[in-house]
Amino acid sequence: MRKSIKRALVALSICIPLLFLSLLLSGTVDYKSQILSFFPQLNNVTACRTASPPLRVYMYDLPPRFNAGLLDASFPENTSVTAANYPAWRWNDGLRRQHSVEYWMMASLLHEGNDESGLTRDAVRVSDPDSADVFFVPFFSSFSLNVYVHNMKESNTVDEKLQLEIVNILRASDYWKRSGGRDHVIPLHHPNAFRQYRHEVNASIFIVSDFGRIMNISRLAKDVVAPYLHMVESYDTEDDKDPYESRHTLLFFRGRTKRKDEGKIRAQLQKMLKGTKDVIYEEAYASQEGFKASAEQMRLSKFCLHPAGDTPSSCRLFDAIVSHCVPVIVSDRIELPFENELDYKEFSIFFSDNEALQPGYMVSELRKFPKDKWVKMWSRLRNISHHFEFQYPPKKDDAVNMIWRQVKQKVPAVNLAVHRSRRLKIPDWWR
Ligand SMILES: *[C@@H]1O[C@H](CO)[C@@H](O)[C@H](O)[C@H]1NC(C)=O
Ligand SMILES: *[C@@H]1O[C@H](CO)[C@@H](O)[C@H](O)[C@H]1NC(C)=O
Ligand SMILES: *[C@@H]1O[C@H](CO)[C@@H](O)[C@H](O)[C@H]1NC(C)=O
Ligand SMILES: *[C@@H]1O[C@H](CO)[C@@H](O)[C@H](O)[C@H]1NC(C)=O
Ligand SMILES: *[C@@H]1O[C@H](CO)[C@@H](O)[C@H](O)[C@H]1NC(C)=O
Repeated sequence: MRKSIKRALVALSICIPLLFLSLLLSGTVDYKSQILSFFPQLNNVTACRTASPPLRVYMYDLPPRFNAGLLDASFPENTSVTAANYPAWRWNDGLRRQHSVEYWMMASLLHEGNDESGLTRDAVRVSDPDSADVFFVPFFSSFSLNVYVHNMKESNTVDEKLQLEIVNILRASDYWKRSGGRDHVIPLHHPNAFRQYRHEVNASIFIVSDFGRIMNISRLAKDVVAPYLHMVESYDTEDDKDPYESRHTLLFFRGRTKRKDEGKIRAQLQKMLKGTKDVIYEEAYASQEGFKASAEQMRLSKFCLHPAGDTPSSCRLFDAIVSHCVPVIVSDRIELPFENELDYKEFSIFFSDNEALQPGYMVSELRKFPKDKWVKMWSRLRNISHHFEFQYPPKKDDAVNMIWRQVKQKVPAVNLAVHRSRRLKIPDWWR
């Protein structure tokens, strides 16, 4: 705690005089350029924003069967997971990849980059739990579900046993007891991840894809919405020669059309959009070839439709973003990643379920959408798509760093809750 205050003070003591100086000098150009030639770094006041100290994260040293061992069955059980022995990511099939946020978060903490200054990292691993802001629980709850559970009716699965083991490990930890788990970060990205025991850890900061199935134990104020990993390849090579004209499909959707709950809208939309000129609405199951075909179509479409499925969100939205296809979101209860930093209205269009189901309304709105407004959205998509890239080593402002930044913003509320809980003499009446 003290260390981070000190760092913040150091950062402030540098930034404030720099800001004043640059304001002072902004009128007197000659002076400015002379002084700047001696202090080139003065030219870059914006650098101060990123200089705020990174989040300090203590990562539990769990046996590899909770993380690396799930990826690689031959991973030696008695070995600590390090940057050197961490298995490289190699699954590109649908579910494992889409929900692998947990893998990339752990990787970012294992990474031993030399940028401890925090200029590009939003979180660093600390070995002393007493100096940590938060505690990361590297249990790959989504991967465990995908590996061990094939049918939701199975009981007594290895996945369920791992969940229970985690709950017991946490309950025995002094750091858990100290905060009731409020300062612990647990990835729960798949809607069924940690299914049997997640309510036991309900005070922790969850990393989720949406709140569809965990409404009763999850809250926007406490938890972090993280993007899915996109399945189509990013369109980094797109040139800016009239993208509006070269994308001749107006609206594109490809995916399952028979879904439960709010996803019923998919079948209704299919019926309504059938045979509409310049609109592609295809029934398809997730497959490697399917993602390739989607990538090609998204790159040729102006708008990409994102209707709710079994849950309010899906990886399709992120596929659209990295393809620079303006998302058209029809999902009344969707929650979006990084929304305090990003205004999705700058690069997406929203229709309520009711609006989308009025015959002809949505397509006619899209047809008359002004070209210059579309180009602005497209350009914004190109500018923000790096926030949705997961990679190792992590890069400045990429998805993992954005997620850690979100976690960092939860810390003040966590501290407030922990401090209050320590002095309360009666059960908390605000919960
Ligand atoms: C300012 O800082 C940013 C981020 O650190 C860097 O990318 C940019 O090149 C710097 N600009 C100048 C003029 O030094
Ligand atoms: C792992 O360590 C435990 C206790 O430290 C030991 O009993 C066990 O034999 C070890 N297993 C392997 C595979 O080395
Ligand atoms: C939250 O967790 C506490 C402690 O494990 C438990 O007693 C409580 O029932 C949980 N609440 C919900 C809504 O699951
Ligand atoms: C939360 O809701 C799920 C179903 O949506 C239910 O199975 C579970 O028991 C609920 N948990 C609590 C603590 O109410
Ligand atoms: C995208 O970034 C470029 C270069 O930084 C900038 O000139 C442009 O205004 C940005 N466009 C939007 C829509 O944010």
